[in-house]
Amino acid sequence: MKAKPKKIAIMASGRGSNMDAIIDAAKVGRINAEVSAVISDKKGAAALSKASDAGIPAYFVSRARAADRDAFERDLLEILERHSVDLICCAGFMRVLSAGFVNRYKGRIMNIHPALLPAFPGLFAQQQALDYGVKVSGCTVHFADAGTDTGPIICQRAVDVLETDTAESLAERIIQKEHEAYVEAVRLFCEDRLSIVGRRVVIV
Ligand code: GRF
Repeated sequence: MKAKPKKIAIMASGRGSNMDAIIDAAKVGRINAEVSAVISDKKGAAALSKASDAGIPAYFVSRARAADRDAFERDLLEILERHSVDLICCAGFMRVLSAGFVNRYKGRIMNIHPALLPAFPGLFAQQQALDYGVKVSGCTVHFADAGTDTGPIICQRAVDVLETDTAESLAERIIQKEHEAYVEAVRLFCEDRLSIVGRRVVIV
């Protein structure tokens, strides 16, 4: 018998192309999941309008409350709990979550980063990779912890860095791999195949 589909919330601050990849994968049954809610901390985020167009409840949680992170996270939690979500996918969500929030959803929050962690965490990862002069970069899907891009790694994809690359051209190649990697990580989660052992994620 097929397991019950997992309920996913996607948190995105921007254009939401990783969100699109997850929604599409759920729609065609590539992952056994239903995207139950999309949340953004940016009012005009493309992710919100795309989610609404796809018939998915879309919520803006104001950054005005962000000065008080507790209040901001209480608003997030209220939505997540209302939808009984099993998994939270941060996809270009430009906020670091508190330890309290992460512990509440321990092992159930994923994030994607456009570099091969632990190299180049934080903002402008593609530019950091170019500035450092690496020949290979890529993307990482990891479980979130309270640090910036520090949680246990689920999967990674590599891309070559070309001598002619700009941050934009490198980002363009990396984002293609991000979509593949994120769907793969979510698929494994939805099949209950991810187990966290210390810093390692074991695929069972
Ligand atoms: C991606 O590069 C992701 O790795 C980073 O923010 C970007 C979001 O892109 N955290 P999109 O909104 O999913 O298109």
